[in-house]
Amino acid sequence: MYEQFFGFSHTPFTKNINPVQLYPSMAQQELLARLYYMVEHRCFGLVIGEVGAGKSTTLRSLYEKLDPAKYLFIYLSDSSLNPRGFYRDLCRRMGLEPAFLKSDAKRQFQTAVMECFQSQKKTPVVAIDEAHLLDHRMLEEVRFLTNFQMDTLSPMTLILMGQPELLKTLSLSAFEAINQRIDIRFHLMGLSEEETRSYIQHHLKTAGCHNAVFTEEAMKLIHQYARGIPRKINNICTSCLLHAFAGSLPLVDDHSVKRVLMTEFKTA
Ligand SMILES: Nc1ncnc2c1ncn2[C@@H]1O[C@H](COP(=O)(O)OP(=O)(O)OP(=O)(O)O)[C@@H](O)[C@H]1O
Ligand SMILES: [Mg+2]
Repeated sequence: MYEQFFGFSHTPFTKNINPVQLYPSMAQQELLARLYYMVEHRCFGLVIGEVGAGKSTTLRSLYEKLDPAKYLFIYLSDSSLNPRGFYRDLCRRMGLEPAFLKSDAKRQFQTAVMECFQSQKKTPVVAIDEAHLLDHRMLEEVRFLTNFQMDTLSPMTLILMGQPELLKTLSLSAFEAINQRIDIRFHLMGLSEEETRSYIQHHLKTAGCHNAVFTEEAMKLIHQYARGIPRKINNICTSCLLHAFAGSLPLVDDHSVKRVLMTEFKTA
């Protein structure tokens, strides 16, 4: 299809990008460094970022880089979890057959974390993605996990990651106890205009294309629309490429971008 037309060996701007081929944006590199810090120091960390900013992608990069002999990485992103399901899931991820009752599964998990840290010399790293969707009962359990300490030394890392409304929720007085326990916070921002250009070129290059497919003006407009949010950039670039292919245009210029924004994204 259009891949052949533009001389791509892979489809660019897809979510299936290989972790080693990710674009190293400043903000994501900084987030990765903070995540490492949280892991190494067994902190409680909070990561906020707009929809599509690249939070989960950066978490995936962290996971790829962690030594499984030293860390047990547990990733949760099931917003429908209730406290019982939460502890049962955590137990399963720790290789245990979970107890039926929440209170038993909770104790089981607590013991397993200690055993993992003290006997196996491994740090459990629990990352809760989409945390803005957690209900109040679940946040209460998050508070419990942040209290999980042995002589002030935490045996695990806990990372909460979510969209900006999570900040609002945590600022409610009911969650003051969680808010105060956050050791490291990070807000993942969008790419700068310069980075949006490099991001687009990076995707094209990893798709095997070394030609300039988007004009400078086109990339400027894409940045204005997407405000540096990778998923938005991906969506609009894909639409622009399909539009150019349909019209047998080898270049995506600002006129094409405007048309795509108007017709498909109902803006501009
Ligand atoms: N550094 C990067 N290099 C290449 N692609 C990226 C990069 N960062 C993000 N993306 C792409 O942008 C898209 C959105 O990223 P991601 O899913 O990580 O966002 P998110 O912040 O977790 O969004 P949500 O709040 O909806 O969960 C993904 O398809 C991903 O492939
Ligand atoms: Mg995500």
